[in-house]
Amino acid sequence: MSHVRGTMLYASPAPETDRERLIRENDLVVVVEGFNAAVAQRIRIGETFVSRHGRFPHAALVGVAFGTKIRASDGRGFVHVCAPTPELWTKVLAHRTQILYAPDIALVSAEMELRPGSTVLESGTGSGSLTHALARCVAPTGKVWTFEFNETRVKAAEEEFRANGIDEVTTVTHRDIERDGFPEELASTADAVFLDLPGPQKCVASVARSLRPNGVLCTFSPCIEQVHKTIVEMKKHGFADIKTVELLGRHYDVEGRCLQTDLSAPLSKETKGGWRKDQKRPRDGATEDSASTLTETVVAHPQQRLQSHTAYLTFARLIPAPENWTETLAERAKTSESGNEEVLKRAAEFLAKRRGTKKRYRPQSDAPKQPSKHVISNPDDYSD
Ligand SMILES: C[S@@+](CC[C@H](N)C(=O)[O-])C[C@H]1O[C@@H](n2cnc3c(N)ncnc32)[C@H](O)[C@@H]1O
Repeated sequence: MSHVRGTMLYASPAPETDRERLIRENDLVVVVEGFNAAVAQRIRIGETFVSRHGRFPHAALVGVAFGTKIRASDGRGFVHVCAPTPELWTKVLAHRTQILYAPDIALVSAEMELRPGSTVLESGTGSGSLTHALARCVAPTGKVWTFEFNETRVKAAEEEFRANGIDEVTTVTHRDIERDGFPEELASTADAVFLDLPGPQKCVASVARSLRPNGVLCTFSPCIEQVHKTIVEMKKHGFADIKTVELLGRHYDVEGRCLQTDLSAPLSKETKGGWRKDQKRPRDGATEDSASTLTETVVAHPQQRLQSHTAYLTFARLIPAPENWTETLAERAKTSESGNEEVLKRAAEFLAKRRGTKKRYRPQSDAPKQPSKHVISNPDDYSD
């Protein structure tokens, strides 16, 4: 694939290749400005990226290795120029809709058991955040078929997939999946199906036709009522192993600190309220005593902000009935009755052996009808 099309976002076949190679014109670069601050730049000679950290002419980035720290041409600050990955793309993409973020994407990819060569169906495409991650999972030999009923979003996704080099493994199609279902040509081809649209329950029958046996369906629904309706349909259409998950992650700040343990000693100049960040060399003139009253400790603070609710993820596996499956509920009940009969017979024989009697088990239908008082007339019958 020609580099003129830009850096391949799923970095196939070897992820290192893109990271080790130098930035060229037309490449997609993710400029990381700091914690949670990143933007996408397509490298064009003559253009300049301007931020609060200063001016960064694109020409100065050509020939630089991905991952390099770059100083602004006006000397104000610096940024890192990173190779694009689906994870970074999720942080910088243009939001045309709500999108999936890394924690949900990670669980979805794992539970749908995706690997190179898998075939996966998705609807709707939305902003293509999940689609990029799916493409990387299944590349280079697999396929992502993604369907979206908003035509403008279809065109935007098509262009992005081409520019980001995932169009060989990804095809986006304009289609109303709730109304028309997945195309018949895809019947029994999919290893996994992902639904992020308002009425997933309307698509379950079509998903059951599209999945191969054992394939996994995942639905992403913000409301629990939606989840319930979908589960009802899943059960009707041969899905089993159904589970619903909500991901709420907790982030931690972890650092090394020095705690002044001898509270009778005067507070060291190097400590603040008895604490000092990381162990430093004692300042010139500082006595060893102040340092010896400090104990190194690991401090971990859970951040106050919890990752909030995104949606409920419901996973289910298609376990179709075997061919010529004719067992009805009544037949199943009969089987379990005769199973009980066998257990009762063995229990009676075991008890008879322990009592040393030759009392045989008689099936209930053969046993003479006893008045109920007879049942309790010999309490010894219950001693075992
Ligand atoms: C929340 S967005 C999907 C976001 C996507 N998962 C991502 O990570 O970027 C939902 C999308 O489903 C599309 N959609 C809604 N109903 C649909 C239908 N019946 N058929 C196909 N797409 C549909 C919407 O137009 C919208 O773009």
